[in-house]
Amino acid sequence: MSGTILVGTSFGDEGKGGIADYISQDADMVVRPQGGPNAGHTLVVNDEKTILRLIPSGILNESVKCVLAQGMVIDPFVLHSEIKSLIKKGVKLKDRLFISNMAHVITPNHLAEDRSEHSANIGTTKKGVGPAYADKASRKGVRLGKFIQDVKAGRVDKHSFDWAVREAVEDIQWFVCDTSELVYNALVNNGNVIFEGAQGTLLDIDHGTYPYVTSSNTIAAGACTGSGIGPTMIDEVIGISKAYMTRVGEGPFPTQIKDDVEKSLRDAGNEYGSVTGRARRVGWLDLPMLKYSVRINGITSLALTKIDVLSYESLGFDEINVCVDYLLDDETCEYFPLSRLSDVEPIYMSFLSWKAEHLQSKLAGPAKEFVKFIEDYLKIPVSIISYGASRESTFKVAA
Ligand code: IMP
Ligand code: MG
Repeated sequence: MSGTILVGTSFGDEGKGGIADYISQDADMVVRPQGGPNAGHTLVVNDEKTILRLIPSGILNESVKCVLAQGMVIDPFVLHSEIKSLIKKGVKLKDRLFISNMAHVITPNHLAEDRSEHSANIGTTKKGVGPAYADKASRKGVRLGKFIQDVKAGRVDKHSFDWAVREAVEDIQWFVCDTSELVYNALVNNGNVIFEGAQGTLLDIDHGTYPYVTSSNTIAAGACTGSGIGPTMIDEVIGISKAYMTRVGEGPFPTQIKDDVEKSLRDAGNEYGSVTGRARRVGWLDLPMLKYSVRINGITSLALTKIDVLSYESLGFDEINVCVDYLLDDETCEYFPLSRLSDVEPIYMSFLSWKAEHLQSKLAGPAKEFVKFIEDYLKIPVSIISYGASRESTFKVAA
């Protein structure tokens, strides 16, 4: 039995899709426990770009089963268009894609509500995710299984949909089942199951920068509640972080870069939202935040992504910064000041920058020293490195 949780260590967009794609080459099942079409995973396989918002990236590996678990909120139109586009690409979905009958449905009313001023102040992705979770918590929501029954019985308007949704339901229904038992059985039968968390730790509804968060538990524990398996079935929690940081939407971001370097780094890393196209805010790697993330998630090792970007000649960095502590009220912090992140001033250490030749299938020079420093600081190993968008530029670090 082997259960591995992949979790974003900061504000989402850490490159989880790429790491999930890489490690799902050896997996039997990939499960998405929570979130909805607010996520966007950009995958590059055989030079071809695919963006998936609901279906886990593992779907492109033919031997992998993919599960959309009951902690998710699902927009039937988005799901339908992903199913259609995968079929068009020749991806086989029968007996490979399983969608929970207990996941909640995002309705047109939820989408309308997510265009409110309140949502704009948070900077949501406007995909109806928050309102759908709110209805779920107030026990007014509709689960996918019941929804399909209603639509087939002609009760479409009951959920603020128009008739167009019948076509979506027609195609979706074949994949809908009780997924928690499926996941359990895979684990019990020695399957290699990956839980692909969406968004990041600091966007968690309980442990993030509330109210500037998403509406689900994005942390590792959320993978258990979302998919309906016990914590004792998890062996590993891999945290994902870029070698720098980004945040899209509002909320505190201590290491955000406040000069022209922000734009150069954004362009170098192509840091524009895959769902909304929004420019992401860009900053230096924040180790106190990562340390918090290691604690909250019980992270056992780290995957470090986009380590190549800081070496780009277009940036011309001789040195890069890493935040090692915060100043708060003129003192350094003994603890992680989650509720006062807007008031901290980061303390940076600078590191020699590296070059492309330091990144080929193993690390050398300043890149190696950078990674060693992170490992010592966080007291966990860096187990995976990626230095480009393709599978070929991702490698496991020898222990
Ligand atoms: P919502 O999830 O659309 O309600 O958005 C709430 C906050 O989470 C906003 O700041 C979004 O930008 C952010 N967010 C939601 N999903 C993602 C994601 O997949 N990557 C990065 N940020 C996200
Ligand atoms: Mg994303």
